Amino acid sequence: MIEKQLNDFLWWQKEIVYQIYPRSYKDTNGDGIGDLKGIREKLDHIKDLGINVVWISPIYPSPMADFGYDVSDYTGIHPMFGTMEDFDELLAAIHDKGMKLILDYVPNHSSSEHQWFKDSRRSKDDPKRDWYIWKDPAPDGGPPNNWLSVFGGSAWEYDETTNQYYYHAFLKEQPDLNWRNPEVKKAMFDVLRFWMDKGVDGFRVDVMWHMIKDEQFRDNPPNPDYTEDKSPYDKHLQAYTTDQPEVLDLVKEMRKVTDEYDERLIIGEIYLPVEQLVMYYGDNNNGAHLPFNFQLVLIPWKAAEIKAVIDKYEGALPAEAWPNWVLGNHDQSRLATRIGTEQARNAAILLLTLRGTPTIYYGEEIGMQDVHIPPEMVKDPQEKNIPGKGLGRDPERTPMQWDSTEYAGFSDKEPWLPLMENYKKINVEQEKDDENSMLSFYQKLIALRQKELSFSNWKI
Ligand code: GLC
Ligand code: CA
Repeated sequence: MIEKQLNDFLWWQKEIVYQIYPRSYKDTNGDGIGDLKGIREKLDHIKDLGINVVWISPIYPSPMADFGYDVSDYTGIHPMFGTMEDFDELLAAIHDKGMKLILDYVPNHSSSEHQWFKDSRRSKDDPKRDWYIWKDPAPDGGPPNNWLSVFGGSAWEYDETTNQYYYHAFLKEQPDLNWRNPEVKKAMFDVLRFWMDKGVDGFRVDVMWHMIKDEQFRDNPPNPDYTEDKSPYDKHLQAYTTDQPEVLDLVKEMRKVTDEYDERLIIGEIYLPVEQLVMYYGDNNNGAHLPFNFQLVLIPWKAAEIKAVIDKYEGALPAEAWPNWVLGNHDQSRLATRIGTEQARNAAILLLTLRGTPTIYYGEEIGMQDVHIPPEMVKDPQEKNIPGKGLGRDPERTPMQWDSTEYAGFSDKEPWLPLMENYKKINVEQEKDDENSMLSFYQKLIALRQKELSFSNWKI
């Protein structure tokens, strides 16, 4: 086994990624919603932890039907988060500190308010018609096939202007782009270039495995393991809607675009079994640098299961593919709630000592927990559409807890989602001075990881 020198590694192999959900990090203008200036204000919190890579969930103009994952302008900044100038200042501040910035890129679907879709739905002859996925009704007038939306109901929405249906894997406000159309590819790759020209260091690609659908639009087969407690989306196996063979070529093309620039990173959001997941590395690593590995989020927290998952993942990785590990994100119940506060510490040890690049979701470093959201305060469309099954994602999206003041130092106004009840105990300010706190624990662990190469297993 060759032990490599630190210099031989690319920046994203050496660093830790920190995910910020921008609505909930820090509000600087008193509207109860986090913003870009807020992130800039708090960069030292991240830097002091020893973390150098920040990934920010979408900050683009959006009607916010899915809280930013419905983009109406891929090269703008939502006024709620600030201006393009604020963005440039944030990026400069990040680079000044020797840190990197990863943006969320949402290529599978735009907002229905995007000008492209407005044009597309206008008429069958519009030059943008084929930029989205339009189909005639079935003979009975119903949807063209049985495909279901992740957020409940059919994935097809009837549009009476042209008497056709359009496909949306998520909300009807999130029509899927047609990536088989070369013009779409060109326009969307230019979006990547726009941000890379500004100096953005990489992208987390939203639902990468969804990007291409079956060309023949065949019905999905039933899922024999479906039970009523699951999301209705799970009634089918996604045989023809996700992980289609052509998507891997598309990922390689996307990688070529980032390779026009030096050292830019592509992280793919992919929920698939390990054997399929590792295909997204491409051949000889010409695909995504880091197809997100969610195994530790998805398994029951039992030693034998954890061991099996680690062995299987390491065993499945293609030659020279760089591993990565994730414990939480804005779509998953918080770690401390899922497995308990004590186990959350063990999980942090695992995350930060396993071979590969770790991703930390904001707030995990202080042990934030899911916050109970009363029905009348629910914001997440997934909970609204499929209530009562525990699918809501608001609980893990609540404001960052900075201190013990009225709104936890997040804002001076009532925040958009409620704060955790015990935020006066669990917050950055309190935990800083307590050497037994979760924050101190993370700090020490990360320091150790940086000092002792063997703790991060920087070997191949
Ligand atoms: C991804 C995002 C999730 C969003 C969905 C649709 O899974 O992480 O938050 O709702 O894509 O864009
Ligand atoms: Ca604000």
